[in-house]
This record gives sequence, C-alpha cells and structure tokens, in this order.
Amino acid sequence: MAITNQYTWLITGCSRGIGLELTKQLLELPSNFIIATCRDPSKATALNSLKSSAKGTLQIIRLDVDDRESMMQSVEEVSAIVGEKGLDYLINNAAINQEIDTAFTMNIDGWAQVFKTNVAAPAFMAQIYLPLVERSEKKTIVNVSSSLGAFGYGFGETWASYAITKTALNMLTYKQKAERPDINVVCLCPGWVKTDMGGDDAPLTLTESVAGVVKVITSLRPEDSGRLINYRHEIVPW
Ligand SMILES: NC(=O)c1ccc[n+]([C@@H]2O[C@H](COP(=O)([O-])OP(=O)(O)OC[C@H]3O[C@@H](n4cnc5c(N)ncnc54)[C@H](OP(=O)(O)O)[C@@H]3O)[C@@H](O)[C@H]2O)c1
Repeated sequence: MAITNQYTWLITGCSRGIGLELTKQLLELPSNFIIATCRDPSKATALNSLKSSAKGTLQIIRLDVDDRESMMQSVEEVSAIVGEKGLDYLINNAAINQEIDTAFTMNIDGWAQVFKTNVAAPAFMAQIYLPLVERSEKKTIVNVSSSLGAFGYGFGETWASYAITKTALNMLTYKQKAERPDINVVCLCPGWVKTDMGGDDAPLTLTESVAGVVKVITSLRPEDSGRLINYRHEIVPW
C-alpha cells in the first residue's frame, strides 16, 4: 500500500545504542515510517520488541554497511517499500571504534576497517540512496558524527583513530553539500552518551541525547546544511 501522510526514515545500526533509541522515539509518532536496519534482524530482540508499542510504522531489514552487496540489496528492498514517496531521512548512524588509542599507538591495519565503516559506508550509502532521497519531500541526509572530529574541540590525544574518521566524515558532509546544495545534509553529534561505545562515564542518557537528536533533525534550518551540529542544535566549529 502506498505511504501517505508519513515521513520515511532509514537508519543504519539499529540493533542497540543510539540507532535503537532513535527508532524507539520516532515510533512514538504515527507520522513516521521507519525502516530500521541492522546486521542480523533475527538476533535484534530489542528492536523487534518495539513493534508491539509502535504508533508509527516499523519495518526491519538487514543491512551490513561493510558489505556492498548487502547495501545494494537494501536499496532494492527500500525502493519497493517507499515507492514514489522516496526517502525523507537517510540516517547514517552505524559506526565502530578501536581500543581507545593515540596517534603513536594506534593499530594502523585495524584503522582501515574503522575508516571503511565510519566513512566509506556513509559515502556509499549516500550515493546509492540519492535517487530515493531526491524523490522525497525532506531530502535529508544525516551523518552521525562526533565533536571529537572537530579540531577546536580540544579532547587531547585519545580516541585518535576514531576521531580522525569523524573528521573525514565531517569533510564528506561538507563536500556533499557543496556538490548538492538542494539536499539537506548535516553531520550531527549526539553528545557523549551512555552506550556500548560511549561507556558508563558518559554524562548523557540515551533518552536525553536522542530526544535532542530527534528535535534537531526535524527542525533543521537552511544554515545547518553542510555543517557539524550537535544534539542541542548548536553549530560546532570545525
Ligand atoms: N555514544 C557516544 O558517546 C557517541 C558520541 C558521539 C558520536 N557517536 C556516534 O553515534 C553513532 C552510534 O553510536 P552508539 O554509541 O550507539 O554505538 P554502539 O552502541 O557501539 O552501537 C553501534 C551500532 O552500529 C552498528 N554497526 C556497527 N557496524 C555495523 C555494520 N557493519 N553494519 C551495520 N551496523 C553496524 C552496531 O551493530 P551490531 O550490534 O551488529 O554490532 C550497533 O547497532 C555512531 O556513529 C557513533 O560514532 C556516539
């Protein structure tokens, strides 16, 4: 059945953490149609359990952002689901990190994998999903990034290999905007959040961070496009 009166969303990495919470909060509104993706839907128990209380619509599909075939297969599935409505919001959320490392100690070979997941995958996703995004009303791509990738943030020497991939993701966003000013594309920092990646010392709960993230994404201003913004809707200096 054709999707009417709903915004369509595709989110990567919804098995846990920010992707899962984002799916949960977006499903509180009937006006949202969420395609939540993860590497193995059969094992995504928490994600599957959202179906019972969802006010919006939830479809779960398999998508491994390290696997080109899986990505191409997902485009076919998503095209069939959204049809002429297109994809209002493409949320590149999935990411990984290595051990917390520094420039002089980081595992250089492992870093290639981090770069693949955190930078090459969002770049390829944007390329293959562009026709669906172009067709939509909101035409929005969100690259979930981090202030750790901003030079002025002053976090010091740690998280080196991860931070460098986020700097690259920020530049990807800038380049996407420069090439396609008609598309809304932002990199968005959710803050430091208690997740498997963020750890227990993080000051923000998932609920707090993602409430901000939802508000920011659904109220993007023209001046945000091509910029790094945070969950409080502040533009973060590069
Ligand atoms: N937490 C923070 O403090 C913080 C701060 C700034 C930015 N961020 C960013 O926020 C985003 C989400 O982070 P998080 O804290 O929620 O991380 P997380 O708890 O570690 O969750 C990462 C998610 O990404 C998925 N993922 C990893 N590799 C994948 C692949 N190849 N294909 C598909 N999914 C894959 C994981 O799926 P599996 O379960 O299959 O592994 C999981 O669902 C990331 O972009 C991260 O860099 C987080």
